[in-house]
Amino acid sequence: MRYYILKNVLRQMRFVLLLILIATTGCKKKNDDNTGQSKGLKVYYSDFFPVGASVGSSNLTGDESILLIKEFNSITAENAMKPGPIHPSENNYYWTDADKIVDFAVANGMKIRGHTLCWHSQTAAWMFLDATGGTVTKDVLLQRLKDHIKTVVSRYKGKVYAWDVVNEAIDDDNSKIYRESSWYNICGEEYIAKAFQWAHEADPDALLFYNDYNTESASKRDKIYNMLKKLLDAGIPVHGIGLQGHWSIYWPSETDILSSISKFSSLGIKVQITELDVSVYSSSANFSVRTPGDDTFTSDMEQKQINFYKAIFRDFRTNKNVINGVTFWNISDRHSWLDNFPVANRKNYPLLFDKDLKPKKAYWEVVNF
Ligand code: XIL
Repeated sequence: MRYYILKNVLRQMRFVLLLILIATTGCKKKNDDNTGQSKGLKVYYSDFFPVGASVGSSNLTGDESILLIKEFNSITAENAMKPGPIHPSENNYYWTDADKIVDFAVANGMKIRGHTLCWHSQTAAWMFLDATGGTVTKDVLLQRLKDHIKTVVSRYKGKVYAWDVVNEAIDDDNSKIYRESSWYNICGEEYIAKAFQWAHEADPDALLFYNDYNTESASKRDKIYNMLKKLLDAGIPVHGIGLQGHWSIYWPSETDILSSISKFSSLGIKVQITELDVSVYSSSANFSVRTPGDDTFTSDMEQKQINFYKAIFRDFRTNKNVINGVTFWNISDRHSWLDNFPVANRKNYPLLFDKDLKPKKAYWEVVNF
């Protein structure tokens, strides 16, 4: 009898011990070091993909630079490599800011994404004009594009590992395919294939991306897919698609994001999230729906953003075989381009670090897996 009691007690003790063990080890989230100190996104994601941020040269000193070095292992120039800033007039390239960013990345062992070689926006007017102020011919414009791409890509050859070759060439309007930009209006769709060919000639080792936003809208997704398929079938060197990832706590759904990842990767190309931020406003929300001056980060926004970030990073990890980079657009909520877009002077809170550069709750959900 006594033996049975003892046996039972021992069995229960074993059970309790097991519970304690699970509570202290098994259930303990892998990346929670209990110190409240982050190890760095790049460390938590070292088995998955590089994690980057977009920067300007002013972010390369002071506390932001310390955060950059600790958290990220990839960098994109937020503006400095775009056609307008880097090639302000025909015979003049402005390298200073882009060089600073490249030097910073090289000095700190970070990868560099090049953004962007051909875009309808932030391109200086001279590109499309002849000496008399009229529109240039297709031949002249293609020659200028070729010169631009060869010059910029060659300068950073071996340092920039991936280029957004063409940015935002597809229209949002369902009734149109290509965006009717000056590039398209003067050259037709041909400029897209040419841009990839010239970038490839200038640096055969660079990964070449087509980059766009709203890639989770079903109709835009299909249009981009068709364009990429056509380019790939024609043997054009396209190696990946950049989903910009300018998302919000309301859009898109996880299903939409997963559909894009799976549809684009079915073409045999890589997928990167190139400009990730999660706005706390819906796209239709404007300042007038809130009390002017009231742009606080509410607990409802915070919770929705936590859920959103947690879900998408889980999906990115699950798809690590096709996702080979995730880049945030800006570093922290101290400054985001969304503070002024699409509504001027409306503060947004789209990133994983707060304005004091401290990890937000969403950060911990992203790294504790
Ligand atoms: C934005 C920059 O963040 C801003 O500083 C600039 O004023 C406008 O461009 N899609 C892109 C990026 O591909 O280049 C844009 O960057 C954001 C949307």
